[in-house]
Amino acid sequence: MDTLTLIKPDDFHLHLRDGSELASVARDSARRFARAIIMPNLAPPVVSVRQALEYRRRILDCLPDNPDFNPLMTLYLTDNTPRDEVDRVAETGEVYAFKYYPAGATTHSASGVTDIGKVMPVLEYMAQRDVPLLLHGEVTDAEVDIFDREKVFIERILSPLVENINALRIVLEHVTTRDAVQFVSGASDRIAATITPHHLMLNRNAMLAEGINPHHYCLPILKRERHRQALVAAATSGNPKFFLGTDSAPHSARAKEKPPCCAGIYNACAAIELYASVFDAMDSLDTLEQFASRNGARFYGLPLNTQKISLRREEWQIPDVINFAGATLVPFRAGGSCRWKLVDEH
Ligand code: NCD
Ligand code: ZN
Repeated sequence: MDTLTLIKPDDFHLHLRDGSELASVARDSARRFARAIIMPNLAPPVVSVRQALEYRRRILDCLPDNPDFNPLMTLYLTDNTPRDEVDRVAETGEVYAFKYYPAGATTHSASGVTDIGKVMPVLEYMAQRDVPLLLHGEVTDAEVDIFDREKVFIERILSPLVENINALRIVLEHVTTRDAVQFVSGASDRIAATITPHHLMLNRNAMLAEGINPHHYCLPILKRERHRQALVAAATSGNPKFFLGTDSAPHSARAKEKPPCCAGIYNACAAIELYASVFDAMDSLDTLEQFASRNGARFYGLPLNTQKISLRREEWQIPDVINFAGATLVPFRAGGSCRWKLVDEH
């Protein structure tokens, strides 16, 4: 099979930033994806439906050539999110979920939740109104080893949360461990997970073994090979609980290369092509459309996209650098080759 035609996929976890940074990166996603769940971790964060709709307008204004791209907005949950805001989310067609960042867990998470106890009432209300919760699933306690933070989050936070509010729909975002795959696989249909291309392709040696590579630093951090293998098995399995979310998160080369390195990997310029390469290597191209175009839509209760994209088996080179608001951005696999190429949309 040398050409692959898919229902145009959706990216269920994307950072687009704002202003001229947004303008530099938005098209890479809009060419490949029909819809994307837009992360609200701007500075300051997007905490109200009003702000989300203004941000959505700024995204669309950057994409005059991609009028069909549909940004699915989210709000940033804080210790003080009011119930009214949950009502507004449930009642607007353009905001789809709340994002939970444990305070201090990652880029622009300072306003995140300091203690899950503080948000239990609002989470219960989200369950009542059937508004999904998207989790950055890592604890932030200094005494927990960084490689264990997802596993400990599942034990201490997620598992009790699912028990206490079993009607809440939850996406455990960018899963990185076998523990997460097992938890999500064994949980109810209301619990799902997204998986990034970089966590499917790399283990932590890619960040640490041949000299520290800041361009492979993201959160949750890359894990051991056996975890990567569990992610690949989950993504390619066809299990409807697992779907595509790139976590494409651009930072300038300067911000990545000057300590302390910012967490985040930019993969939007080759995202569906890289996923296709992973599925191809596993002889699983037949399940790519489920993972990329069907499972997430089903979880979010969205119609399948009517557009299609095609990929061709052809080596091409991922750019060394991309212009990022006048600065330099080093994308994932910069200068490397990719064996599936995007053909024009149709
Ligand atoms: C993200 C970013 O840069 O906004 N970084 C990352 O490493 N994934 C934030 C996030 O999703 O954790
Ligand atoms: Zn993210």
